Amino acid sequence: MLSRYQARSFFLIGTAVMTVVFIGLTVDTFRQIPVITNEAEMSASVIRGKHLWDVNNCMGCHTLLGEGGYYAPELTKAYERRGEPFIRAMLKDPEAMYPGERKMQQYDLTEEQITDLVEFLKWIGTMDLQGFPPVPKLVSLAVPAGDKPVAQRTTQPKIYNQMCIACHALNGQGGTIGPALDGVGNRKTKEEIEIWLTDPLKVKPDSKMPKLPLTNEDIKELGAYLSQLKS
Ligand code: HEC
Ligand code: HEC
Repeated sequence: MLSRYQARSFFLIGTAVMTVVFIGLTVDTFRQIPVITNEAEMSASVIRGKHLWDVNNCMGCHTLLGEGGYYAPELTKAYERRGEPFIRAMLKDPEAMYPGERKMQQYDLTEEQITDLVEFLKWIGTMDLQGFPPVPKLVSLAVPAGDKPVAQRTTQPKIYNQMCIACHALNGQGGTIGPALDGVGNRKTKEEIEIWLTDPLKVKPDSKMPKLPLTNEDIKELGAYLSQLKS
């Protein structure tokens, strides 16, 4: 048993030590903020983008760093997930990217404003959030990979629904910015589709299809999948 005196000293010393530790950690956290938030990358464009984010009340529907409305997708990692071309297309004409679905309003933003918003989203995505938001463990499509080469898989690659459906229809579902992809295998070979997907603007400089952030694997799978859509 502690004596009264010992108990009081224990309490006082313990409290004093913990207060010092607490203040130390707080100061340390504040010191790290410029690094964690990548303050050096905060350009004038990023700041203008943040302002546009606020005055247009994007937060009313979207969350950033988990804060905001839960109507629309969390955007902290939107840049990484979607890439610049997709976000630009989305901000220019949200309705066309997701026809007939949940609505994002048309803001009639100028090209410069769109650039600022993209820069802002890009910057916020580089913050060190120690794992937030958690990456969902998506079950990859039930493709029996087995020993079949990619070319023989017939299932629709998952990326198709993330990236392509917004602009292209297939079996009557999807957007109308690009042509329907039914029967695209009659018009283009696997190789032609791969070249197209690698950079549409190299094939057709005035194309409305942006260069999308696709990996080589995505391109191979999409080429294999689309080239066998024949009517
Ligand atoms: C009225 C609600 C609403 C407001 C306000 C709004 N959005 Fe959206 N936004 C949406 C919805 C809904 C979607 C998703 C479309 C879908 O999946 O059907 C979306 C999608 C997006 C996407 C694509 C995200 C992805 O992962 O595909 C971006 C980028 C985006 N919004 C940016 C913005 C910005 C920047 C603003 C402010 C200038 C804004 N939004 C304001 C509703 C809104
Ligand atoms: C922002 C809109 C947009 C997105 C997103 C998009 N495309 Fe396109 N795509 C187009 C447009 C527009 C064309 C027509 C080409 C042109 O003349 O500009 C096109 C053309 C094509 C063609 C050639 C079609 C033909 O009939 O010859 C293929 C193949 C294609 N896209 C595949 C895809 C795939 C696969 C994805 C997803 C990874 C995708 N596209 C995403 C807009 C888009």
